[in-house]
Amino acid sequence: MIGVLVSGQGSNLQALLDAGLPVTAVASNRQDAYALVRAREAGVPTATFSLDCHADREERDLVMATWLEEHEVELVVLAGYMHLLTKPFLDRFPKRIVNVHPSLLPAFPGMHAIKDALEANVEKTGVTIHLVDEGLDTGRVLRQEVLPVDPPATLEERIHVVEHRLLATVVREMMAECRAR
Ligand code: GRF
Repeated sequence: MIGVLVSGQGSNLQALLDAGLPVTAVASNRQDAYALVRAREAGVPTATFSLDCHADREERDLVMATWLEEHEVELVVLAGYMHLLTKPFLDRFPKRIVNVHPSLLPAFPGMHAIKDALEANVEKTGVTIHLVDEGLDTGRVLRQEVLPVDPPATLEERIHVVEHRLLATVVREMMAECRAR
């Protein structure tokens, strides 16, 4: 079963739902994330784990990990989740947390990857699916797809199309591996 962490629009979550993947829980750090609306419309249980309600990040992450386990989550997908995860969470899902990032990591980590690539005048950028560790977009790369920056006006849209396809593909493969074990 898949748990998805979200903070924003949730178009990547929607791609997983549309692909028919078994998403059983969606958690957010923000109550106002539109992704939560998408989850509820799909009948998937949601919960918000705001930092304001916990002593620190570690405690929040522990509670969130427990909630995901209660929903039988085996694989955690970060789909536009904007907080770093702490060790107590990472230790609960070893090598079972993946993130989608809109650049060819290690190039352009962080929140403004598409803008940063445009400003750097590179010819190529792309999409990375990677395992999550304590760093900012630093975990082991699982899959990448290259895109030409040109035409720049449509880069963001083209990146999102690739993100949705690549994330669903890698998640499906990882679920098949979980089952085979
Ligand atoms: C995506 O571009 C993803 O790569 C990045 O944040 C964005 C989230 O978009 N980490 P959405 O919330 O899935 O629409």
